[in-house]
Amino acid sequence: MLKNKKLAVIGVGKLGEALISGLLKQGALGKSDISGSIAHEASIARVKDRLGIEVTLDNRELVRGKDVILVAVKPQNMDRVIKGIADVLTADQLIISVAASVTTQFIEERLAKELPVVRAMPNTPAIINAGMTGLCLGRFANAEHKNMAEAIFRCVGETVFVDESLMDGVTALSASGPAYLYVIIESLAEAGVKLGIPRDISTLLAAQTMLGSARMVLDSKAHPAMLKDNVTTPAGCTIDGLMELEEGKLRVTLIKAVVKAAERARELVNTQNTSGK
Ligand SMILES: NC(=O)c1ccc[n+]([C@@H]2O[C@H](COP(=O)([O-])OP(=O)(O)OC[C@H]3O[C@@H](n4cnc5c(N)ncnc54)[C@H](OP(=O)(O)O)[C@@H]3O)[C@@H](O)[C@H]2O)c1
Repeated sequence: MLKNKKLAVIGVGKLGEALISGLLKQGALGKSDISGSIAHEASIARVKDRLGIEVTLDNRELVRGKDVILVAVKPQNMDRVIKGIADVLTADQLIISVAASVTTQFIEERLAKELPVVRAMPNTPAIINAGMTGLCLGRFANAEHKNMAEAIFRCVGETVFVDESLMDGVTALSASGPAYLYVIIESLAEAGVKLGIPRDISTLLAAQTMLGSARMVLDSKAHPAMLKDNVTTPAGCTIDGLMELEEGKLRVTLIKAVVKAAERARELVNTQNTSGK
């Protein structure tokens, strides 16, 4: 699907770089198939050193002749960036936005012509091909555009198409999610340290346990509560740990964290001086 396709990435920052690295590692596209843009001259060396792709400050020049334009700038920069390239884009080009909070309608209005738009919400584990991307289609995107977008994000992990009304929820859950899970891994590792386990071993124990548990949920398709019950021996030690988690309101805290992040995701596009996702 991606063979002979040329990809332009507007905004090679953290997420843009993660996606490009994943695509290159998978061999889905070569370095000569991908070019990017950034805002500051000083970033050119960083992108060239880390990714070895062509990079420019000129978005209008960048998008000319490219099959797919992936826009990965901060939500509050989307208005200016999209308006800036609108008149040089043509109907055979696919625009994919990964900006949190920015709807396909927002982009279509600024393009002011009937161009295919796909909104995607990936996450940074894409860099190791373990990403999770939620996607939805704009008004003018067809099955071919859907397949193309899916092919790109499948290279860097799992994909799921959802109704656009759910995209802020996806943003709060799986795009912000790695941050929550790093805090949990860090906390479990601290617990190991408290119990005398060296920090490196403790971190390995915590991270591999999270990875294995996630795989159990995905592979077995069993309800997480059932998997939890399998670990919880009557009168054993796990139930004592679970009681502490309940007392500390871990579940409700996680639910509230994701709901709060989704509320914030809804307003990002209208916010100045925000750090993005
Ligand atoms: N980080 C995540 O985990 C994640 C996950 C899902 C979605 N997203 C979305 O991805 C987007 C980028 O987030 P990020 O975390 O990667 O932010 P970031 O690291 O700040 O990257 C933004 C990049 O955009 C470039 N840029 C700014 N204005 C530009 C312009 N006019 N033309 C070309 N490039 C421009 C910046 O260039 P300079 O480097 O020169 O400043 C920077 O490289 C956001 O919309 C966010 O919602 C992020």
